Formats: sequence, structure tokens, C-alpha cells
Amino acid sequence: MAQDLAPCCAQLSAIIGLDVALPNSSLYAATETAYWSIQEGSLAPSCIAKPSSSEHVASIIASIANQHDCPFAIKSQGHAPAAGFANINNGITIDLTALNAITTNKDASVAHIGTGASWLDVYAHLDTLNKTVAGGRNGGVGVGGLTLGGGISYFSPQAGFTCDTAINFEIVFAAFAKIAAAKPYDVHASITTSAIFNAVTKAWTLLSAPIYTKPQTDPEVYSELFAIPSISNTVQITQLHTLANETAMAQTNQLFSTGTYGVSAELLDSIFDICNETLYDFNVTGSLQWIVTFEPFPAVFAAQGAHDNILGTIPEVGDGMILLFSASWSDAAASSLVHAKNKEVLRKINAAAKHMGLLRSFVYANYAGTFQKPISSYGTQNSAFLCRVALKYDPLAVFQRQLPGGFKLAD
Ligand SMILES: Cc1cc2nc3c(=O)[nH]c(=O)nc-3n(C[C@H](O)[C@H](O)[C@H](O)COP(=O)(O)OP(=O)(O)OC[C@H]3O[C@@H](n4cnc5c(N)ncnc54)[C@H](O)[C@@H]3O)c2cc1C
Ligand SMILES: *[C@@H]1O[C@H](CO)[C@@H](O)[C@H](O)[C@H]1NC(C)=O
Ligand SMILES: *[C@@H]1O[C@H](CO)[C@@H](O)[C@H](O)[C@H]1NC(C)=O
Ligand SMILES: *[C@@H]1O[C@H](CO)[C@@H](O)[C@H](O)[C@H]1NC(C)=O
Ligand SMILES: *[C@@H]1O[C@H](CO)[C@@H](O)[C@H](O)[C@H]1NC(C)=O
Repeated sequence: MAQDLAPCCAQLSAIIGLDVALPNSSLYAATETAYWSIQEGSLAPSCIAKPSSSEHVASIIASIANQHDCPFAIKSQGHAPAAGFANINNGITIDLTALNAITTNKDASVAHIGTGASWLDVYAHLDTLNKTVAGGRNGGVGVGGLTLGGGISYFSPQAGFTCDTAINFEIVFAAFAKIAAAKPYDVHASITTSAIFNAVTKAWTLLSAPIYTKPQTDPEVYSELFAIPSISNTVQITQLHTLANETAMAQTNQLFSTGTYGVSAELLDSIFDICNETLYDFNVTGSLQWIVTFEPFPAVFAAQGAHDNILGTIPEVGDGMILLFSASWSDAAASSLVHAKNKEVLRKINAAAKHMGLLRSFVYANYAGTFQKPISSYGTQNSAFLCRVALKYDPLAVFQRQLPGGFKLAD
């Protein structure tokens, strides 16, 4: 039975200057419609608190910690697709998007960025100063969520994860593997290669998005890729805020899942075969699209911040590639079938990679499915360190017990 959250919300309303929105208000609707996936935007919190200062955040957390039965969720830009990661039924959602101030020091070498800012806000601000930062590639994504999970940017081969400071198949995948395993890796190259399968039309579409982070339109590193007629050269010299300006999309059902592998054209081939074999005859009511995206995770990228960040990725294992296997579909009634299919494909891909000795343990949190365990993939020492940090800053375990969203330390 739904628990009465009115006292939790009433106590928040007493915090001076804090916006607390109740269902059926325009402030409440603005937060709900801002989520990227429909599953997340469909959850109905009892109230939404929108702090505009860090003092507000401290007061909210103090109020929640005082009332052990007030469950809550934290939202930055709401791009995590899974239901319950940044929103909650019958609980309090803290919407951090008003904490979006961006300031820089005198010579603009250091930027101070609010957790609720979108990367588009950040790029638009820094581009005017001729500066940039290794943040999300899609401007709609939030600073908070992306950075907590690591953060892969166009500049990652050069600068590492954000938290440290980026096809006819047979042939195209081979070109991708060559770029991903190039020695030395060109740190200005950041590429994602996607295969998109439309389950209604049974058509595969290939998309390659090579980005070069120096002003140069014909980088040597992409010469082989652009020689393939079916791949268009989308490299352009542009400012990051133009590149990152996400096209507005209607909320739909979304899921993410991920894997990390050693680089091999043979593995890419078998992954494509597995996807086609497993997904070809799978149909549900309404629309359904699967997107299989690969991006290089070269050793030079892993070397940045290795042993400093808690992700546990090290360059010694060599060049790698990160898979983002995602789905979007229209009919919520098909969700359990789509989730089950997603797990089946990933299980087969991982088995094939393991067989080839190319399966890596790293599970990238920002792409992980709800059934995956990113935090334990960081290794036992790093997980233990995170537990010590949690004990120090959250001795009452408020963020473990009352905040069900996202990945937990004991995952
Ligand atoms: C269209 C799209 C493009 C993407 N592009 C990239 C990319 O280029 N590179 C990349 O690495 N990833 C990318 N991602 C993945 C993205 O990093 C994750 O989805 C990330 O979690 C989104 O962050 P957010 O702030 O928008 O999301 P939210 O859903 O608001 O937050 C994600 C999680 O972080 C928690 N959280 C957020 N802020 C805080 C905080 N201040 N304190 C405590 N917890 C907090 C939330 O509770 C939630 O569990 C992309 C995702 C999408 C949908
Ligand atoms: C940024 O660079 C452009 C082109 O070089 C220059 O015209 C402009 O003055 C620079 N702006 C700042 C704030 O340095
Ligand atoms: C992003 O694109 C929209 C729509 O084209 C435009 O209105 C907006 O000004 C753009 N934002 C930035 C920061 O470039
Ligand atoms: C995918 O599988 C189907 C069914 O086996 C087959 O007809 C089709 O040719 C395959 N597509 C590709 C691109 O391999
Ligand atoms: C898949 O299902 C959709 C929705 O029911 C239907 O419109 C479409 O024709 C089906 N496609 C195939 C190839 O069976």
C-alpha cells in the first residue's frame, strides 16, 4: 500500500526559499517531462524539491535523514534510462537542475560547474572563452550523472574519463578495429560506430561518428574509414556547443547495457552475427530499435587517471573497446520481453568474447543495465575504498538505505 509521504514533503516546504512542487503543478510537470526515457518520467514522486543553493541541498538531506521512512531520488539531467535511477514512486525527487551555475577563475584555467548543468550549458559558456572540458558528447546529458559514472568525452583518448579531469559490417568493423588498436593511438581521435536494427522493417543501418579534436578535416587516422563508400565523412570543424546540441526527442522506453572487450575485428564480426541471429526474428507490438555502439577504449585513455580514479581500468591490459547495447521501444507492455532479449544477447556476446580471451571485467556505470554490477567491476580494493568513503561521509547510510536509485555499494 502506498505510504503517506505528506509529512516528508511538508517538512521540505518549511525550508526557506526552496521550491517544492506537488503533482499537477507546472513545476512538477517540467521535471517529469525532462527525463530522457519514458519509464523514468512515468514514475510519480510525492513531491519534487528543486534546490537553488548548496545550502538547500544540505537542508533537504538533513530533513530526509531525520525521517527514516522518506525514500528519495536524485536527478541531474535525467539521462539515465532505467526507471528509479533518478526518480521515484511515492518518495521525494530532488531535481538539481537549478544548480547549474558555471564560473571560471581569472585565466579560465579552472571552471566551477554546478552538478545540475547540462554539458550544452557548459560548452556554450566555455566556447566563448575559447576553453573546453572533457565532458559528455551529447549536450543534454548532465554534469552530475556523467561524472559520477566516469564520463567518456571526445577528449578522453587525450584526457581520460571526465572524472579524471572521450558500416557494411565486415569491412567497416575492420576499419574500426584498426583505429581502436592503432599504435600509437592518435589521442585526438574519438569515434563511435553504431549498428542500428529496426525490428519492424528488419533493416540494419550503419552509422559512424568520427570526431577529431584538433582543427583538421582529413586526419590520417580516419583515412581507411572514409575510403569505405557507405560511410559518410561527418568530420567538421565546429565548436563543441554546436556538436553537442541534442535534437529534442519524445520520451520513449529505453534501456542500456554494456561490456568491455579487447579489440578484434573477428570479435566485432561475431558480435554482429550474434545480434542478427538473436534479434532478427524477435518482434513486439509497436516500434522497437536496437542500437549496438562501439567506441575505442585505447590504453592511452585508460592510462589517464589509472590508479587515481576508482574505476580500476589500467593501460597494461592493452587497447579495448566499450560496447553500449541499447534499445528503444514504444509499447510498455513489451518491456519484459525486450529486457529478457537484451540479457540473452549480452550473455551470448560475453560468452563469445570470453572464448576468444577478449572479455574484460570493466562495466562502465553510465552504460550499465540494471542487472549489471559496475561497482564490483572496479575491483575489490576500489569497492572497499568506496565503502570507507561512504562510511566517512554518510555514517547513517542515508544514501544506501533511503535512496534506492542507481548502483549500490553492495551491488
Ligand atoms: C543521449 C545520451 C547520450 C549520452 N552520451 C554520453 C557520453 O557522451 N559519454 C558518456 O560517458 N555517457 C553518455 N551517456 C550516458 C550518461 O553518462 C548517463 O546516462 C548519465 O548517468 C547521465 O547523467 P545525468 O545527470 O543526465 O542523469 P541522471 O539520470 O540525472 O543521473 C544519473 C544517476 O546519477 C545520480 N546523480 C546525478 N547527480 C547526482 C549528484 N549530484 N549526487 C548524487 N547522485 C547523482 C542519479 O541519482 C542517477 O542515479 C549518454 C546518455 C544518453 C541518454
Ligand atoms: C577566442 O579566439 C578567437 C579567434 O582566435 C578570438 O577572436 C577571440 O578574441 C578569443 N576570445 C577570447 C575570450 O579569448
Ligand atoms: C541548440 O539548438 C536549439 C534549436 O536549434 C537552439 O534554439 C539553441 O539556441 C541551441 N543552443 C546552443 C547552446 O547552441
Ligand atoms: C540476418 O539474419 C537473417 C536471418 O537469418 C538473414 O536472412 C540476414 O541475411 C542476416 N542479415 C545480415 C546483414 O547478415
Ligand atoms: C512486427 O510487429 C509490428 C507491430 O505489431 C508489425 O507492424 C510488423 O509488421 C511486424 N513485423 C514483422 C516483420 O513481422
